[in-house]
Amino acid sequence: MHAAMSLVRKLYGPVLRRYTISSSPISYNNKTRHHHFSELVHSMAKPVSIEVWNPSGKYRVVSTKPMPGTRWINLLIQQDCRLEICTEKKTILSVEDIIALIGEKCDGVIGQLTEDWGEELFSALSRAGGKAFSNMAVGYNNVDVNAANKYGVAVGNTPGVLTETTAELAASLTLAAARRIVEADEFMRAGLYDGWLPHLFVGNLLKGQTVGVIGAGRIGSAYARMMVEGFKMNLIYYDLYQSTRLEKFVTAYAAFLKANGETPVTWKRASSMDEVLQEADIISLHPILDKTTYHLVNKERLAKMKKEAILVNCSRGPVIDEAALVEHLRQNPMFRVGLDVFEEEPYMKPGLAELKNAIVVPHIASASKWTREGMATLAALNVLGKIKGYPVWFDANKVEPFLDENAQPPAASPSIVNAKALGLPVSTSKL
Ligand code: GLV
Repeated sequence: MHAAMSLVRKLYGPVLRRYTISSSPISYNNKTRHHHFSELVHSMAKPVSIEVWNPSGKYRVVSTKPMPGTRWINLLIQQDCRLEICTEKKTILSVEDIIALIGEKCDGVIGQLTEDWGEELFSALSRAGGKAFSNMAVGYNNVDVNAANKYGVAVGNTPGVLTETTAELAASLTLAAARRIVEADEFMRAGLYDGWLPHLFVGNLLKGQTVGVIGAGRIGSAYARMMVEGFKMNLIYYDLYQSTRLEKFVTAYAAFLKANGETPVTWKRASSMDEVLQEADIISLHPILDKTTYHLVNKERLAKMKKEAILVNCSRGPVIDEAALVEHLRQNPMFRVGLDVFEEEPYMKPGLAELKNAIVVPHIASASKWTREGMATLAALNVLGKIKGYPVWFDANKVEPFLDENAQPPAASPSIVNAKALGLPVSTSKL
């Protein structure tokens, strides 16, 4: 039987090490019981607390945060990994904290989108013998992939499990903004409701209006379908690539509506982003963040949008010039916005928090239990796969086999973004 154990470790400086059992045993299957202990790893700034699982494991894997679910932990310790999970209270770890966590020998790290994975961290990981890093996120603008390539470190991400959850949050923000849900909720709680009124919290009807999608990849397309099918909106989208599947879907749905005597929905692929901004009543942003999409929505572009439009952003904060947005919201009280991400997280630009026509949530688009547990599993398997020398999965969007709780996952890394640059082998679908 597997004798894996977990311990939470507190390391006071390089010399004194104290091991204390800090929690009741955790059972991860019917047969085996595991304990964990805590410890503090010494960083130059201050000690960093960690929880250690399976201390005698051959490969040392570090996770910079506790992550949802237990499957990811079990998968690692069953494959002979000693897993150290940082339990430090502080939300955003510094590069120095992470260097302390990496220590002298580390085979792989699971990290977070709040961390700055560049030259310093990849060189530290490489010095410690590490060849694998995975973001627990689909976006990886926090990772300098060139630096990772330089040190031969594989970089994983977690596509395929966020699509619907993220699109659903974009849809939630759209509805909340259109129907002024947050303002109305605050009004009720403030005891201001003293009876029904014809003008009370009048918002926008979505049906028959046009939804504009900037970036019709996986998430943008899922959102578009929700809005078209759920609310019978017409679609205009802008993307460098044609989204044939999305177009076919809308065409088929239009035919269905027509056959039922309803007004059919329409779709249009815009030839410029400005065309979307000018025509759409709702605009949702779904591009990746890179040099070309930084401040994609700026003062000039905001001015092109309808005065009563709704703008939703569940991608990355810097895609919008947030200071310009604050000004635009001030000048145009009927213009509304639903934001999940901010230019300088965790902060908001001055003035945003006071604006009634802005709905703000703290980067929770992927925060459904299923998705977050799936992300943790995929991130762990990205790292494990590289450590074990497995190939990279043939299609990062077809990750269901990795998520089946009743089966062993395929012997592959689900998604490595620099697989080509590193010349990593790719699996066939038959694994
Ligand atoms: C979340 O923002 C992610 O990129 O996964």
